[in-house]
Amino acid sequence: MKKHIIANIKMNQTPEESKFYLASIISKASALVDKRLTICLPYTSLNLGKMMLSGTDITLGAQNIAEEEEGLLTGEISGRMLKGCGVKRVIVGHSERRSRFKESGQAINKKIKIALKNGLQVILCVGESLVEKNTLKTVASLTAQIDECLKGLYENELENIIIAYEPVWAIGSGKTASVKDIEYGVKAIRKAVENNFSEKAGKEIEVVYGGSLNGKNITSIYNAEGLNGVLVGGACLDAQAFLRMISKC
Ligand code: 13P
Repeated sequence: MKKHIIANIKMNQTPEESKFYLASIISKASALVDKRLTICLPYTSLNLGKMMLSGTDITLGAQNIAEEEEGLLTGEISGRMLKGCGVKRVIVGHSERRSRFKESGQAINKKIKIALKNGLQVILCVGESLVEKNTLKTVASLTAQIDECLKGLYENELENIIIAYEPVWAIGSGKTASVKDIEYGVKAIRKAVENNFSEKAGKEIEVVYGGSLNGKNITSIYNAEGLNGVLVGGACLDAQAFLRMISKC
């Protein structure tokens, strides 16, 4: 199975900037033959992404989804709206949303169910805080997040879920987790999935890593044991530097 490279553009790029960005990436699509690239654009660039990425092997992603289908939720974006913009995958439960927008495990669980119901694949982010890491609570934290977020799902729905292991302390901090840390976290995630579903589910669930990835650390992390790819934040914003980074995978 090809590994994932997922770009999270976060709150960057106007539609015009996304246009130039995507054009640069598409022009070097040959660099992607043995990889699965997903670009998670801001909402305002999604329609443009739909047009520019159609006919390419690059998947259009979004960064969030409302926890309800429709209604009195000013400013929110529903699964149906995302689908209408050509979105195939959506990030759910990013730590920036958990901390800045107080998204609970329960809300994330609802978002996952809504996304799946609308035919969208989910990139579920989980990760321990620095305090949890330092007090040896990484496994407990990851397990609790998986238990809460995947509650009530059927095992066959897991084929549409990618779990992103993003230690909170590694995001945007320049502090990358070591390969040993990553393998430890990924193992804990697989075990939690196994406990909620089955041994097969724990083995087969796709897990990617995100947190301060860059051109220097990408090769060793991309090849870490048990990992199905990477989720890149800051280092994906410059298209040329990102393409150089991809070429090292
Ligand atoms: P950075 O690569 O900037 O640390 O961000 C990671 C991330 O949050 C991806 O979702």
